[in-house]
Amino acid sequence: MNEFSDNHQPLALEYRDQDADKRMFSPSAARNSAPILAIMKQVIPKQGNVLEVGCGTGEHAVCFAEAMPDITWQPSDPDLSSRVSTLSWITFKGLNNVHAPLDIDVCSKEWGVEPLMPFDVIVSINMIHIAPWQATLGLFAGAGRLLRPDGVLLLYGPFMRNGIHNVPSNEAFDESLKASNPSWGLRNIEDLERVAEASGLRLSDTIEMPANNNVLLFSLRRS
Ligand SMILES: C[S@@+](CC[C@H](N)C(=O)[O-])C[C@H]1O[C@@H](n2cnc3c(N)ncnc32)[C@H](O)[C@@H]1O
Repeated sequence: MNEFSDNHQPLALEYRDQDADKRMFSPSAARNSAPILAIMKQVIPKQGNVLEVGCGTGEHAVCFAEAMPDITWQPSDPDLSSRVSTLSWITFKGLNNVHAPLDIDVCSKEWGVEPLMPFDVIVSINMIHIAPWQATLGLFAGAGRLLRPDGVLLLYGPFMRNGIHNVPSNEAFDESLKASNPSWGLRNIEDLERVAEASGLRLSDTIEMPANNNVLLFSLRRS
């Protein structure tokens, strides 16, 4: 457990049963980890300080931290079972460059990671379409607050352009998300650019990824 976790008393209780193997497995994380890692290696500075929001099972965190041993990775997720799985993955891999996961809901005004800032990179994989629009607003606001002046917000997932899906399968996925929760759904890149601008970020790169996904890189512009 990292020094910052001491400020979060509930963590001690959440992770009491640390010896049990509580790892969860995500088929999509298993598939997309390698292609996302290839992009990460180009974006993250050698000794970078990374914050991941919506870390899910924790498989990305340990995969990327293991492949880039000089970086420091701070995973987070508001879901307790995800945090338990992530800690279990960290323990299983024996990594010392991944902190214990924090409870961060990006909709919160403060994320509680101010003592660890600034971050070189904030990463959010497959989160903003499976959360209300408020989470997108909170994510960009947090990136504007917490990134270092030349920092980058990296988003991975399926996106729309001008309200148009890139492939029918993403349109069907969007419909299924909205059927589960009307506030969910694929986001327009143009809408993200507008939200980014309000937080001092700009879209600096759009990278096509396997399975009709994209990586979007937003850079902070601060003097
Ligand atoms: C589809 S899962 C993706 C998990 C992981 N990033 C992956 O790709 O395997 C979405 C994750 O976002 C998290 N999430 C949902 N709403 C959130 C919010 N408001 N703030 C931060 N994370 C959130 C969920 O708890 C969940 O773990």
